[in-house]
Amino acid sequence: MSSPAQSPARATEITGQAERRRTFAVISHPDAGKSTLTEALALHAKVIGTAGATNGKSNRKDTVSDWQQMEKDRGISISSAALQFSYRDTVINLLDTPGHADFSEDTYRVLAAVDCAVMLVDAGKGLETQTMKLFEVCRQRNLPIITVINKWDRPGLDPLELMDEITERTGLTPMPLTWAIGIAGDFRGVWDIRRNEFAKFARNSSGAQIALTEYMTPEAAAESEGDAWDDSIEEASLVVDTDAPLDLEAFYAGKATPLLFSSAALNFGVKQILDTLVDFAPPASPRPDVSGETRPVEAPFSGFVFKVQAGMNQAHRDHVAFIRVCSGMFERGMVVTQTRTGKSFATKYAQQVFGRDREVIDTAFPGDVVGLVNASTLRVGDTLFVEEPVEYPAIPLFAPEHFQVARSKDPSKYKQFRRGIEQLEHEGVIQVLRSDLRGDQAPVLAAVGPMQFEVVEDRMHHDFNAPMRLERLPYTLARLTTPDAAATLSTVHGAEVLERSDGEFLALFNDIWAMRRVEKNYPELPLTEIGTKRE
Ligand code: G4P
Repeated sequence: MSSPAQSPARATEITGQAERRRTFAVISHPDAGKSTLTEALALHAKVIGTAGATNGKSNRKDTVSDWQQMEKDRGISISSAALQFSYRDTVINLLDTPGHADFSEDTYRVLAAVDCAVMLVDAGKGLETQTMKLFEVCRQRNLPIITVINKWDRPGLDPLELMDEITERTGLTPMPLTWAIGIAGDFRGVWDIRRNEFAKFARNSSGAQIALTEYMTPEAAAESEGDAWDDSIEEASLVVDTDAPLDLEAFYAGKATPLLFSSAALNFGVKQILDTLVDFAPPASPRPDVSGETRPVEAPFSGFVFKVQAGMNQAHRDHVAFIRVCSGMFERGMVVTQTRTGKSFATKYAQQVFGRDREVIDTAFPGDVVGLVNASTLRVGDTLFVEEPVEYPAIPLFAPEHFQVARSKDPSKYKQFRRGIEQLEHEGVIQVLRSDLRGDQAPVLAAVGPMQFEVVEDRMHHDFNAPMRLERLPYTLARLTTPDAAATLSTVHGAEVLERSDGEFLALFNDIWAMRRVEKNYPELPLTEIGTKRE
């Protein structure tokens, strides 16, 4: 499939660059330490001099990944961006994901753009609800997962208990690559199982610098740590087979998960996570298109939009579309074609964006993320290509559970109102539903989490100068249906059919009982659960 315009030397270069890429996201329940770990990873890669400076969320207003006002006010991360850094001879692309469950749709889009996920587990809490939900999404996408047990510096569960929980609840077989020495709350270091050496960590001021590490043989470790070493090794010996090679196939197939221990706040065990990514995580590899055919990484440039974000730079009110490069070499200024519209445009403003930091990107390779500034026609899910047309699968939408009618507060600003709603829909901030009955002036906004509505209200007011009102609807459940269902359900209390902008018809119900009644009374009516796997 390689283009005649592409020289063999170029193809070889692209393949080599793809092999050097590790593109991943950290998934976790809020507060498990995702932002802290992100900083610690960046610190190790020497992107920033001091990690977080303080780890306290309240003080951490200027971390590399938090930037929007709402994020600052709430101390949560809403938007996603990519951090790129070199480590050893590898290029690491770390895609940021929002921690709050209300923005899980955003996280889902990011997971569509990565090749691997790091699942962060709080040692004191084990697998929490949001971790499980995100894990499910990874499973549906067959994403390989690396598990990191974090906060080992705090009292927590027993390592074997945690391993059992992972096996039972995720079905993944944990494959420990490091083992914590010292119980949770007394974190001395890790036994690096493959190297059979002890990495002994020492705290330094506030964990804002790379942990001082001393490497020791097991014998020296036993001498230095005494019972803590013996007890931990004994525990590990129950589950670790030092002779068995790492089962990469099971890891790539999403059946087994390499497991490591860390304290992100103290920077303990962070280097080992990076080494695992370099040594074992899958490189950028060919991606299937809508027909299921894979486009080789060395084929001419192609990629898809997984995130659109406006107002990233308050001063400039700009609009950035984030593209995951799937094949070929991206060169700034190159003319690309948008598959959906067939239109071509020059990619003059290409940037790497992480938090407030931006850098102009001149070239990018498979696995990389390019932020195209002011490419305002791009929508989430759009494919871009040069030379050989391709279309990547649409990123499916989540099942909404919250519904509110939006109305412009000021009738003279209806135009701004309409434009704003359309833009926010294209960015994937909210889903928009309409029906003839409700009319165009009062679209129904559908969200996975209620905080999405706050973002919409805020953005409509500040970015589009279109203040609006929201009215809650009683629905809590949506199913896919057909246009014919609208007439049937118009007579049913607690139900309504609306059309989503992607052409799907959604039947909304007050609750599960309202839906069950409809199922019973109209068994011929198609009501399909909205999965996240409708590709
Ligand atoms: P998130 O992005 O997953 O939501 O978590 P984040 O990094 O913001 O961390 C949540 C809290 O947990 C932060 O504390 C952070 O300092 C702390 N934390 C993260 N990793 C570790 C770790 O390895 N060990 C310990 N002991 N704490 C960790 P916070 O919200 O400011 O509360 P506080 O504990 O500082 O008072």
